[in-house]
Amino acid sequence: RSPREPGLPVASGSGRRRFPQALIVGVKKGGTRALLEFLRLHPDIRALGSEPHFFDRSLMPRTLDGQITLEKTPSYFVTREAPRRIHSMSPATKLIVVVRNPVTRAISDYAQTLSKTPGLPSFGALAFRRGLGPVDTAWSAVRIGLYAQHLDNWLRYFPLSRFLFVSGERLVSDPAGELGRVQDFLGLKRVVTDKHFYFNATKGFPCLKKAQGSGRPRCLGKSKGRPHPRVPESVVQRLQAFYRPFNRKFYQMTGQDFGWD
Ligand code: A3P
Repeated sequence: RSPREPGLPVASGSGRRRFPQALIVGVKKGGTRALLEFLRLHPDIRALGSEPHFFDRSLMPRTLDGQITLEKTPSYFVTREAPRRIHSMSPATKLIVVVRNPVTRAISDYAQTLSKTPGLPSFGALAFRRGLGPVDTAWSAVRIGLYAQHLDNWLRYFPLSRFLFVSGERLVSDPAGELGRVQDFLGLKRVVTDKHFYFNATKGFPCLKKAQGSGRPRCLGKSKGRPHPRVPESVVQRLQAFYRPFNRKFYQMTGQDFGWD
């Protein structure tokens, strides 16, 4: 008897572990946690909550046929070796990238570091060499936002059709809309819809009406949706100008205008 026969409970521990069919590969501070948490509402998604940072079968949740195993590791998108490794293990993997205005993303990244490292130099002092000079592309907060360059590296191994680019901005302004695109991309029924979300004015972000398991409303934790430090407008403008050509190239490569410029 198949354990999937209607009416029969699925014994825990049944199903088999397998490589994820889909990966959320980036980007850090793009909204990857929100996307994963929202997708977990789907009955045909099996996802790891933590970030394994490597492909390990024994860590993957068990899935039944028809279910999709999903993993999120935001550093993959900017890791030189990741495309080759992932391709050699599973060339059919679907790749999801949540992208956000690289300037806001960099400030968000900085805010996270600042929360752990009080006394950190200012954002501007880190973003520009000697505080005034050229943009410091070696600083990871800056480097991660060079989406076109990272994507170039992936396209040596995977065709563009294997990617879905999720707008981090729309994930906040229209979570159900973005989730619809993701479910289509994964070949899933659109189960997660606007009925699942409400806008929490205190949090300033969409939250879930019913969290998986508890059935109570739930927002993401305090580390998601942090206040950002004030960064002088001139610093923002300079960085925005720096990213513009890279953003343009990224729009061209993906055929999507993310509206950052
Ligand atoms: P901020 O903390 O800068 O606002 P990641 O999970 O990839 O690290 O991304 C964190 C970012 O997710 C947050 O950055 C926040 O803007 C964004 N985000 C998107 N949807 C969210 C939601 N529903 N609740 C909280 N944060 C959300």
